[in-house]
Amino acid sequence: MEPAATCSSDTVWHPHAVTRVERERLNGHRGMVIWFTGLSGSGKSTLAQAVGQRLHEEGRRIYVLDGDNIRHGLCADLGFSDMDRQENIRRIGEVARLMVDAGLIVLTAFISPFTADRQRARNLISPGDFIEVYCDASLAVCEQRDVKGLYRKARAGLIREFTGISSPYEPPSNPEIAVPSGLESVGACVARVLAAVNPRIDPA
Ligand code: ADX
Repeated sequence: MEPAATCSSDTVWHPHAVTRVERERLNGHRGMVIWFTGLSGSGKSTLAQAVGQRLHEEGRRIYVLDGDNIRHGLCADLGFSDMDRQENIRRIGEVARLMVDAGLIVLTAFISPFTADRQRARNLISPGDFIEVYCDASLAVCEQRDVKGLYRKARAGLIREFTGISSPYEPPSNPEIAVPSGLESVGACVARVLAAVNPRIDPA
């Protein structure tokens, strides 16, 4: 792993005694990021957990970073302004980068509404090791599902800056995978993601 471009000039980069390649050899597969993006209720967490479970059962070393969970700890100080979302995704990008260096397959489930922030996260990872999965479910479907009751609250004005209602979502224009999570079952979407991811984990 190389130092990030934005290092303080008063710090010194220490190379790791154990390299990513050596860790990957021990794990038996590449490290990579599977980055789920989409509206609240579009299925990101469900799919990330289900794909992660399948990969784990196949002997892969995985970890799921989930927006709702991470906001209880690492990002507990952040709200939902554009700036806070940007900082949220910056931190997740950096954590994902560390986890990839540790040889893990990292699955992230964050709305990550802004193209520029997702691109910044992608830029931290080697080309080919960042797989963006767009959970393509319309606002109408997510709002109708309203699993957490948050859309109802947002429409009632009880939650400000809610994605899709009073805060923007910029869909990816060129994701590695787009899953029709508003239309198809979880199982069908999981199969789509695995079909796209598996050849990258075990290149021919
Ligand atoms: S992100 O925009 O910064 O990527 P993140 O994925 O971490 O968002 O968190 C989204 C989760 O926070 C949603 O699934 C929902 O449960 C909760 N949430 C609470 N308030 C909001 C809001 N104003 N907009 C979107 N999600 C919210």
